[in-house]
Order: sequence, then structure tokens, then C-alpha cells
Amino acid sequence: MLILAQCYHIHKKGDVILTHHEPVMLTEVLSLIESHSHGKILDGTLGLGGYSHAMLERFPSAKISGVDRDPEAVKISCERLKIYGERFSAMCKNFGKISEVEELKNFDVLVFDLGVSNMQITIPERGFSFNIDGPLDMRMNPNDSTPTAAEILRDSDSQTLTEIFRLYGEERYAKLIASAVKRSHNPINTTSELVAVIRDALPQPVQRKMGTHPARRIFQALRIYVNHETEELESLLRAIHDNSESSLVIFVSYHSLEDRLIKHTFREWHNEGRGRILTRHPLTPSQEEIERNYKARSAKLRAIFLTVD
Ligand SMILES: C[S@@+](CC[C@H](N)C(=O)[O-])C[C@H]1O[C@@H](n2cnc3c(N)ncnc32)[C@H](O)[C@@H]1O
Repeated sequence: MLILAQCYHIHKKGDVILTHHEPVMLTEVLSLIESHSHGKILDGTLGLGGYSHAMLERFPSAKISGVDRDPEAVKISCERLKIYGERFSAMCKNFGKISEVEELKNFDVLVFDLGVSNMQITIPERGFSFNIDGPLDMRMNPNDSTPTAAEILRDSDSQTLTEIFRLYGEERYAKLIASAVKRSHNPINTTSELVAVIRDALPQPVQRKMGTHPARRIFQALRIYVNHETEELESLLRAIHDNSESSLVIFVSYHSLEDRLIKHTFREWHNEGRGRILTRHPLTPSQEEIERNYKARSAKLRAIFLTVD
């Protein structure tokens, strides 16, 4: 089954940009859900509604609540899924604050597909992509009053930037790039200005050996830092532990830091008798899926069934 959520975006200059997001490891997600109760499902990272759409189709008696911190994603999904009436509802919310409003214990299934959607990457104004020129923003919710990536580059010292690039980007040349950012005479306000600084900082032979775009790891690190992605995930895991009752919990992650955090947390829950791990080793996308959708290549799926005494 190939499900593409599409989204038209009218760019400032009047061009129409068509973006779509192909849901990752959808077959694996659906077959896990199929073998458990699934009357009420929380799609905690709604995106363009790819998972929600597939779940609404596959499980006709299921009701789905969608959550995303990106207001544009919520708007697009609501429009796309309104034909399902009361079976689907959505709210704009950071999942790190989910316990404040959501009765987590009422859900049979909680599913989270971390990271960014293709819509966010493709729209120039969002500033997520090293391939598309735009303001260096990277906030998943542009209405947040938190600093943009450009402000973080401007206001952090070289040591802090080195740590961000190393920790969240696993970038070998973190220190070199951080120094180049701080030495730059002009402010770095756009994605292409940052790419140019990174390219200038790295010797040609190093760039050739990298085997990937020289800015990829730095952009990833900034995105994770700007959106406090690790802290939000930690807070979500705590909320699930403290509030959920019997439920299937599924995570799809794309970064080793996140996968490690989920793996260790699931182990703790398992050891304290709070749940039963369903994936001793993480599931990964099939070769056929990676060939069809290269962006799926780093995905890891872990699932646990939570129980209460
Ligand atoms: C990979 S996309 C999800 C795609 C979706 N499964 C689909 O098939 O269309 C990840 C989504 O999670 C959202 N997201 C990331 N961190 C979040 C958080 N802390 N709270 C709520 N949403 C978050 C992003 O805004 C993005 O829309």
C-alpha cells in the first residue's frame, strides 16, 4: 500500500510547491496495531496524517486523536481527514506537554513517528533544508517564542556550538565549523549562508570523503537543539510511564540518540514489570522501502505493551 499525503504550498513569490510525505514503516506499524486492541489511537506526531489516514482505513471501528506541534501540519491533516467525521480529531500540541490535556490512560495505542515531515523540509520559509534557500528558522512551531537557528548561531559561543554539533550531529569537524561560524564577518541569517560557511570551513578533500552533504549533520544538530527534541522525548516518555494503563506504545525514530533513549526506557519499564517489550531488536525498513523512499533508511521501530497490576 502506497499512501502519499500531499500538500500544496503557495510560496511568497507566487510559485506553487507540491510536497508530500510518504509514511515510514507503515506496514510494520499497522500489523503491530492489528494484533492489539485499537479502539482509541493517539497519533502523537500527526504530520500530514499519513499514519492516521491508513489507520482510519484499516481499522473501521477505531477513533483517532492526532497531535502535532506544527500548526500547518494540523491544518492540512484536518482538511484531509475531515471525511472521517467524528472518528478523527486533531490538536496543535507539543507531545512533551501531552499529560496536561490528554487522558493518556484512555488510549489503546500510542504511536510516535519522530523527526520532521517532508512538508517541513520542502517549504523554504521553514528553513530546515540545506538544499533550499530560506530564513534559518527551523522551529517546528513558528509561533513559538523560542530562538530560531539563526539566533542560536548568533548568541551561542564557540564552545556551546561545538557541543551542539558534536552531540546532536555527531559531526567530527564540530569545532572547526563552530569556529568558522563565530569568525564569520556577516550575520548568518539564511540556510545558504550557513551552507557557504560550512563549505568554506572544510577542506575540499574532507568534503569529498564525507559521502554526504557537508552541511547535513550541522542542520540536523541545529534542528534537534532548536526544538529541544531530546528533552521533549524524555518528558513524553515520563508522561506515558506515569499515566498510561494497558496500551501498545510504538516509536519510529531516526537518530541514534533517540533510539538509545527509547531502548533504555523500554528496558527499565520491562524490568520494573510495567510492560512487555515486543521488539527485542528494533525493526528496520525493508530494502524495498529504502529503495522507494531513501529517507526511511535510518528508521528504527520499537514497541512495548504496557500493563498495570
Ligand atoms: C515524520 S513526521 C510524521 C509523519 C506522519 N507519521 C505521516 O505519516 O504523515 C513527524 C511530525 O512530528 C511532529 N513533531 C515532532 N516533534 C514533536 C513534538 N515534540 N510534539 C508534537 N509533534 C512533534 C513534526 O512537526 C512532524 O510533523
